[in-house]
Amino acid sequence: MGRADKVVLAYSGGVDTTVCIPYLKEEYGVKEVITLAADLGQGDELEPIRKKALDCGAAESVVTDVTEPFITDYAFPAIQANALYENRYPLSTALARPLIAKLLVDTAEKYGADAVAHGCTGKGNDQVRFDVAIAALNPELKVLAPAREWGMSREEAMAYGEKFGLSFPVKKSSPYSIDRNLLGRSIEAGPLEDPWTEPTEEVFVMTSAIADTPNEAEYVEIGFEKGIPTSLNGEELPPVALVTKLNELAGRHGVGRIDMIENRLVGIKSREIYEAPALLVLIAAHRDLESLTLTGDVTQYKRNIEQSYGQMIYNGLWYNPLKSALDAFIKQTQERVTGTVRIKLLKGNAILAGRKSKNALYTDELSTYGSNDQFDHRAAEGFIYVWGLPTRVWSQQTR
Ligand code: ARG
Repeated sequence: MGRADKVVLAYSGGVDTTVCIPYLKEEYGVKEVITLAADLGQGDELEPIRKKALDCGAAESVVTDVTEPFITDYAFPAIQANALYENRYPLSTALARPLIAKLLVDTAEKYGADAVAHGCTGKGNDQVRFDVAIAALNPELKVLAPAREWGMSREEAMAYGEKFGLSFPVKKSSPYSIDRNLLGRSIEAGPLEDPWTEPTEEVFVMTSAIADTPNEAEYVEIGFEKGIPTSLNGEELPPVALVTKLNELAGRHGVGRIDMIENRLVGIKSREIYEAPALLVLIAAHRDLESLTLTGDVTQYKRNIEQSYGQMIYNGLWYNPLKSALDAFIKQTQERVTGTVRIKLLKGNAILAGRKSKNALYTDELSTYGSNDQFDHRAAEGFIYVWGLPTRVWSQQTR
């Protein structure tokens, strides 16, 4: 077919992306497959994955650690936006996609490739996120998606690979489809396809079962500067260390699990289990600090922006002019979102326990019911007269 001579393939080391290597060469006439494996904190050893790609016929095998930009450039803006898809999913998988797309495009440009490839199927959101992000970053590049076209079951894909000398170690195959990175895990398929079936404890890795969590509450103080988390319990931490540590703290208390039916962009409903301990706690803490430091109208207006923002991340529109415009709005709102939020972790709950800020708009003289109250109570009467006037007139005319 000769659709491309040189292709950069997003490579995870799993069955599908491994089979993509011979498949691209045999069925698409690709001459050189360059694999790209990104370290997003998924906990895989990348050196064996790098070698495996070469053993399976890749011309070059590139491995790159992007955990730091993943948190700084993708997770932090989403936290500033309090982004939750359908009010629940903190987008832990979705946020990695525009970064991987950027790596694919950068690598393709560096090696002079004429196409990039990924192993997504045709039913999910990830294919949309990759394809649209790649188009935004370099509209000239072709995108190949073999697994969207080949129509093979997992067994057939392995049999195909074996024809070209690949071997797949027999390990007890998991019934689940799992995506993992530093921000969280998403688990679907197998017994979870029945929305009535409760997930068994084996699906969870980052969060403890409630039965195994400490009986004592643990407090964590999260420090923010301009909407960005910078410290835990008074200790300044770089982004990756902060998220790693908070994942452990919150996960140990069973905080961070989600079980939901979600609406995919491609129209299908899917049953998803997530665990994202740090990300969920950071969003809850950040939103709380905003309540203390932003005016009511900015807070309320921003909640609507956040809905759109989360939806755009989910729907693959990270590199999009509307998204950039919303980024500018959000950035402006974060100037004074500096302070500390105190959270109590206990038995699967992250309970807001306190917040403080040098920029607090909460003032004791106005809010107190005590004797130092400075609020002019008599002013309320005139205010209510004017505020209620249209309602009074309407009532007079219609009752
Ligand atoms: N439904 C989630 C999302 O769209 C998770 C997708 C998980 N991807 C996967 N390859 N297992 O972001």
